[in-house]
This record gives sequence, C-alpha cells and structure tokens, in this order.
Amino acid sequence: MSGQFSGILKGGLPQTDKFLYMESYGCQMNFSDSEIVASVMADLGYGVTDELARADVVMINTCSIRENAEQKVRARLQHFRSMKRHKPSMIIGVLGCMAERLKSKLLEQEQLVDLVVGPDAYKDLPGLLEQVQGGQQAVNVLLSREETYAEIAPVRLGSNGVTAFVTIMRGCDNMCSFCVVPFTRGRERSRDPHSIYKECQELWSQGYKEVTLLGQNVDSYRWQVPKASAGKDAGLTYWFADLLAYIASISPDLRVRFSTSHPKDITDEVLHTMARHNNLCKNIHLPVQSGSSKVLARMNRTYDRPWYLQRVEAIRRILPDCAITTDIIVGFCGETEEDHRETLSLMEMVRFDSAYMFAYSERPGTLAARKYPDDVSEEIKKRRLAEVMALQDQHSSERNQEEEGQAHQVLIEGKSRRSDQDWCGRNSRNKMVVFPGHANASKDELIAGIKMLPGTYVDVVVHCSTKATLLGQVSKFEEVHI
Ligand code: SAH
Ligand code: SF4
Ligand code: F3S
Repeated sequence: MSGQFSGILKGGLPQTDKFLYMESYGCQMNFSDSEIVASVMADLGYGVTDELARADVVMINTCSIRENAEQKVRARLQHFRSMKRHKPSMIIGVLGCMAERLKSKLLEQEQLVDLVVGPDAYKDLPGLLEQVQGGQQAVNVLLSREETYAEIAPVRLGSNGVTAFVTIMRGCDNMCSFCVVPFTRGRERSRDPHSIYKECQELWSQGYKEVTLLGQNVDSYRWQVPKASAGKDAGLTYWFADLLAYIASISPDLRVRFSTSHPKDITDEVLHTMARHNNLCKNIHLPVQSGSSKVLARMNRTYDRPWYLQRVEAIRRILPDCAITTDIIVGFCGETEEDHRETLSLMEMVRFDSAYMFAYSERPGTLAARKYPDDVSEEIKKRRLAEVMALQDQHSSERNQEEEGQAHQVLIEGKSRRSDQDWCGRNSRNKMVVFPGHANASKDELIAGIKMLPGTYVDVVVHCSTKATLLGQVSKFEEVHI
C-alpha cells in the first residue's frame, strides 16, 4: 500500500548495552528497510530502544515523496541535534530516500549529522559506523542494480506477530513525471523467489498469518532461474502471478497481500491466480492518479482513462468481491477544472473502497519539475483536494455499508485501539473490523473464546459501519480456516 506512515520502531528486550533508536517515515518499503537495518545493526551488537535518551546511534529513515515529508524529517533532525548537544557521543544517521536525494549536502545543511546512507548501501553500515567512530563523517549513497538484501533476515520490530511485510523487488523503472522514487531508489530489480518463499515460510513457522509482498510496481516482477541451477525450475521465468501462486502454496491459512499494482501492467493472469487461491486477499491497490487522459499523459503514466476503466472492469469480472483502492494527485501541472471534474467522474464510476489523496508537490530533478510549470495555485489545489476527499468519504462509507449483514472471515491482529474489550482485525478486502471479545458471551462461548487470540481467524457478522471501520459480532468462536 502506498500510504505514507511515520513511526518509531520498538524492539524487544535487547541483550546488549549498545542501543539503536530508529524512526521511519514514508512507504511500507521504507519500514521494511528499517527491519533490514535493524538486522545489520543487531549483528554489530546493537539492540533497539524506543527511548531516545538511551540511544548510542539514532537513525532516521526518510521519505522524499512530497515536500512536507521532508519538512517533517528536518524538524526531527533539529530535535536530535539538540539531544546531541547534551550527549556528543551520540551518532546521528540519515537513511533512505532523503539521504539519496540530498547526499552529502545533508552533512553541510544539517549540522551534527554524522552518517548519510542511501537505500542500497545498508550492508555497508559496519564500515561507515567505524569511520564515524574514528571521528569522520561517512556517506554511502551508491545505488545498485542488484542489491535486494535477499539473504538478510529482517528483525521484526514493532510487530503484532501476525502480519509482516516482505520486500519482493526494489527500485522503479517507470518515469512518472511527478515522482522522485526512480531517483531515490534506482533501477528496478526483483528478488530471488526462493529467498522470498523462505522468508515467508519462516514467518509462517513463527506464527505469522499474513504477509504483504512489497514493490513499487509488483506486476513487473520477473525472475529468471538460471538454466544451470539445481532446482526443478531451472531455466523457468517467474512472473508476478507465478510468485503469488508459489507463496500462496505455503499454507492455505497464510494470507497473502501485495502492493502496489500498476494499471499499465496488471494482467488477467494475476487476477485469475487471485481467483484460484482463497488465501490471496481480495484487495487491489491500483493508483489512478488522475481521471483525465490529458493529465495522465503529462504524468507519463503510460495508460489513459479508458485503459484504467477497462482494468477495473476486468477486476470486477474476474474477482467480483474484490476491493479496489487508489492514490490520487490533484493540482498537477496544467490541471484544468475540466480535468479535475474528470477525476471526480472516474471516482463516481469506480467507487473506490478507499484512497490516499494528495496535492501535487513539485520535486526537484523530476521530469515535471524540469518540463512543466507548477501552475495550479495552492488555493485551488486545496479546494480540489477537499472535493476529492469529500467524495471519497462518501464512497468509503457506502462501500462499507455494502459489507453490513455479511459474515466476514477476520484475522485477529490485536485489541482495538479504542477499547481493550474489543478485538480488531481485517477481512480479506483489507477492511478493519472491530468486534467485542468476551462481552455478553455465554460460558461455552467464553471457553471457546479463549481461542480468540491474535493470529486466529474468526467469523464476524458486520452490523454497522463507518467510513473507516466495520463493527460486528463474532458468529463462530471456533477457529475457522480460510
Ligand atoms: N509506485 C506507486 C506509487 C508510490 S508513491 C505507484 O506507481 O502508484 C505513492 C503515491 O504518492 C503515488 O501513488 C502518488 O499518488 C503520490 N505522489 C508521488 N509523487 C508525488 C508528488 N510529487 N506530489 C504529490 N503526490 C505524489
Ligand atoms: Fe513513482 Fe511511477 Fe515508479 Fe510509482 S511507478 S514509484 S509513481 S515512478
Ligand atoms: Fe517510499 Fe518515500 Fe522513498 S514513499 S520509496 S520512502 S520517497
């Protein structure tokens, strides 16, 4: 999913006296990378702490996707700097997309930063840290054509023990004109399917019940097994549909999700594979960006409005119960009122289950920044964003109402945030479902209810909903299988 998040990684009780404090911003791939970094740091003897004051090393894994993502990071760096004044031995590192975009400029601009490491250089952390400990600043922002960190077992931090992210590819070869990702993440490369399988299999054996396969454009996943390899798949090519079927085969009770799909690349083969496997969850994140073919052309998305609608039609035909979510940018260069209305009308036609919506933010160095003036005023961007958001709220509410009265298989993730009397988890369509635990349960139900723990599947009948959540009651207490 391409929504942006921020969060602090929390670890277990570390068996060490050296501590790493980490904050992550941006997309799920960045969070997934932080788990790789934690693993490299664990090998160096660092445990993870969520107390900044205890940290020997502070790392901030950054995002450059929009100007305000970078502003947030700068504000945090200021805070870290003031901490460092009291504790000069504290090492401050900037990782991720902002490190890649700004490179050594970060060392000049952000005084007291010791370390700048791009997304493909995390294996170099031991050497870089040594350099810093020797009194120098250290930078490695080399991008790689091969690095996938395939052999590094991520340290699962801040985990609920039920759901996990697994990166299946890195970088992006598309050149959407608004987007900084190809510059910060480099060329697209896929990860060996066997190492993906192994990681998912290990998660399954540790009790995890759901994996989300991550990539900027999962539909262009491609791995050619060398002809000389010893396996029975020697010489074969794994496409994304093959990878999905392979991972789904680990267990029918392991849910598999993925993100992000690209409208130009999503194939019927992927949709048919999803239809064949119950455990391939029925939710597709298919960012449209705009409903206007003219704007899409300027965005260099390489599809137009009819193509997008025809892909939605294919999803509805092959997977009638599949949720569709999206990303929308308003106020892109040259977007007219008519273009904007086309976005609203496309939204009316598709009625997305949910959406991430953004005002266009010009990113230095991108094709759009070089070629098109950022000519939609902030005021108009704001108004268009409000209109898109209001319409989406209406659609999210309506889509959730359609879920009422039905029984849903829900994978329990934990207690609800609002009340520890309630559990929460998601249905296959990725909708959050909240339901009471033991309230009003009979004795027999209570006994059976002991099974209602994070990581179990339960049937929940939804009786009401909001735009963000479904509310229900458990209809089957016994563990059910998907
Ligand atoms: N690979 C994904 C998107 C990753 S970025 C895809 O192709 O869909 C996540 C989302 O951020 C994008 O879908 C887009 O909606 C938004 N975004 C990217 N660059 C942006 C920019 N310069 N201004 C505003 N939103 C942007
Ligand atoms: Fe950016 Fe486009 Fe690549 Fe997505 S597909 S990461 S929007 S360049
Ligand atoms: Fe992700 Fe932000 Fe980088 S969205 S790829 S962390 S620019």
